[in-house]
Amino acid sequence: MTIHRRAVLSGILGSAAAFGLPRITFAATEVQRVDDLIARMTIEEKAGQMTCLADAFRPFNPPNPQAGIQDEKRLSEEIRKGRVGCLFNGIGVAGARRAQELAVEHSRLGIPLLFAGDVIHGLKTIFPVPLAEASTFDPAFAERTARAMAVEATAAGLHLTFAPMADVARDQRWGRVVEGSGEDVTLVSLLSAARVRGFQGRDLRRNDSLLACPKHFAAYGAVAGGLEYGSIDISDETLRETHLPPFSASFSAGALSTMAAFSEINGVPATADRALLTDILRGEMQFRGFVFSDYTADEELIAHGYAEDERDAARLAVLAGVDMSMQSGLYIRYLPELVKSGAVPMGTVDVAVRRILYVKMAMGLFDNPWRSLDEDVERTRFATPAHRELARESAGRSIVLLKNSGILPLDPAQSRKIALIGPFGEDKDNVYGPWAFYGDPGKGVDIASGLRAALADPADLTVVPGCGADAAIEGGIAKAVEAAKAADIVLLALGETQTMSGEAQSRTTIEIPAVQQALADAVTATGKPVVVLLRHGRALALHDGVANAQAILATWFLGSEAGHAVADVLFGKVNPSGKLPVSFPWESGQEPFFYDRKSTGRPVVDNRTEYRARYTTTDNSARFPFGHGLSYSDFVLDNLKLSDTAMRWDDTVSIAVKVANKGSRRGSEVVQLYTRDRVASRTRPIRELKGIERVTLDPGESKTLRFSLTRRDLEFVGDGNRRIAEPGLFDIWVGQSSTGGLHAQIELYAAAPGANTPN
Ligand code: NOJ
Repeated sequence: MTIHRRAVLSGILGSAAAFGLPRITFAATEVQRVDDLIARMTIEEKAGQMTCLADAFRPFNPPNPQAGIQDEKRLSEEIRKGRVGCLFNGIGVAGARRAQELAVEHSRLGIPLLFAGDVIHGLKTIFPVPLAEASTFDPAFAERTARAMAVEATAAGLHLTFAPMADVARDQRWGRVVEGSGEDVTLVSLLSAARVRGFQGRDLRRNDSLLACPKHFAAYGAVAGGLEYGSIDISDETLRETHLPPFSASFSAGALSTMAAFSEINGVPATADRALLTDILRGEMQFRGFVFSDYTADEELIAHGYAEDERDAARLAVLAGVDMSMQSGLYIRYLPELVKSGAVPMGTVDVAVRRILYVKMAMGLFDNPWRSLDEDVERTRFATPAHRELARESAGRSIVLLKNSGILPLDPAQSRKIALIGPFGEDKDNVYGPWAFYGDPGKGVDIASGLRAALADPADLTVVPGCGADAAIEGGIAKAVEAAKAADIVLLALGETQTMSGEAQSRTTIEIPAVQQALADAVTATGKPVVVLLRHGRALALHDGVANAQAILATWFLGSEAGHAVADVLFGKVNPSGKLPVSFPWESGQEPFFYDRKSTGRPVVDNRTEYRARYTTTDNSARFPFGHGLSYSDFVLDNLKLSDTAMRWDDTVSIAVKVANKGSRRGSEVVQLYTRDRVASRTRPIRELKGIERVTLDPGESKTLRFSLTRRDLEFVGDGNRRIAEPGLFDIWVGQSSTGGLHAQIELYAAAPGANTPN
């Protein structure tokens, strides 16, 4: 008999409808099996299910190579005793089979292991870093690349990825900006949900379905000063309005696990925060999967000054709602005694174990513990030509043309001397990006190789590093200047190494390292036309020789096909269509900087007008705003039409705009809808993104795009943490970035009984 999940899992994993996963069903025998297991498990075995340890069978665990049980023999013993439920950050089928065999065939209860890992932007085929791919503003495309990553990851014996990062990154000094989808709640929500769908596919039981783990719950992107592992002081409203929605969207898309953030919120570390992990996550947000701690984060409660000792830390974490402890081993060490002494109720442990077992069941591990552990599949799924092709397409779409005086695109057939100058011209070590541990070193295409492959005569290209990423090369700048003088055009490959962003790579400034800036200044002083190719994992504050170049391309970390994609865009094979998911401020000191900020009582006019919310030294605008990105086509928007300028309570207003390609090339534009609530019982941001529409047009072609707005889109979190809309005037902009655009207004009328009145 097959029982629909809705009937069986109420209160455990929630309804199928809540997850949007229509095909998950459990047989009565499966339900019985979970119940029987829980009844038979000792407290040690329960604590084991709630423990995830670094994988010593196929040791990778790159960021922390010395931690945990390093020895396969010792870890084997733990698995045999049922003291581990999950291994993480190892890849390879053979090792995984050895571990799974111990769990399934040699442990008392035979519960299969879950294999997790950080597959953030690819396994063997490395796709652009998530921030780069966010520039596509294209959720459907992100879903496709996530699917490809899942196919490779599951072929390598993984069941779950610690991704997507659904944190809204509000400060570019934070190194983890690179791992997410930028600064805006709507964009991050759309992309996170799309990635969950892509990773998981349509059926969790399939061999190539990779469970998603949206992280880091919650508000990790709001760490003060952009300091990794830091603290967050945040209002309930901002938490709910800016930081929780991407998680809700990910859960609605089907994610069955999440990870508590390392950080503390308002004085309580997330790992010990019952209000956050239980009341909000499970009560308000209806999450029914299981919660990982981050890496040793339970143990770190001691350093936070929140737990007295390890035992206390384990107690606080489990009571808060952390179901799976990552790497510290605290649960296995302390839960048995904590339960025996009554400090932790057995019921709390049972609920956690039940959540974990049901997720294992949902992905078919009980039926087939060998799913995703097939050596034949492993041999055929890595870095296939189709994946490389997709990576190249993704990389091309992720590039943002920040500035173009008309110098781009270059004609590949025209013979001219090109000098490729800068530390990243021929560099292969910084092509992938910071979260590509499993990629084969040196297999990414560097810029020089990409250019040579595209040029009619590769001898037209001269490559000179000029300096290292952070250190001078003796005589380097002089040689670079010489090469620039001898060339017709200069390409300056500058920016950050991949170790300058990512976990634990917070920076006080978001600038190009001084030695590279000096190189750029010297090269631009030659007067030769310069195109800057930026490499970076965050928004940057650009200056002088870099900012003044004739053209600038934001190329982030583009992965395996980086060099080809850069050449595709430079030579016009790909018409750039990327849009910035993060604002590029003028100066580092403007951080935290995001476009959806508040007006203040004294809105800034410019940096000269006194007694305004301004910095005396810098315009507090962006050099390149959120949503900005040029094309080789020339898109013009006009004819903005609203179906009505009055919106009654339950109305939908449709907004139409005509987009025309007045250029001479086929290209794509991302048209963006923003609103501003003029007067509200809580001050509202000066703009909020409400919709994106991508359109591809031939030269001379035009199309009418349509957006729709309802009251729901105009809601915000008001008193009592309720989402409310308030009647009154709203500005609307439809444009090509978060600044400018065609403007209109609508008025929302309160017609609903009991609706709020305007203040
Ligand atoms: C710590 C990071 O914060 C988290 O994002 C990652 O998934 C874990 N380490 C596991 O590597």
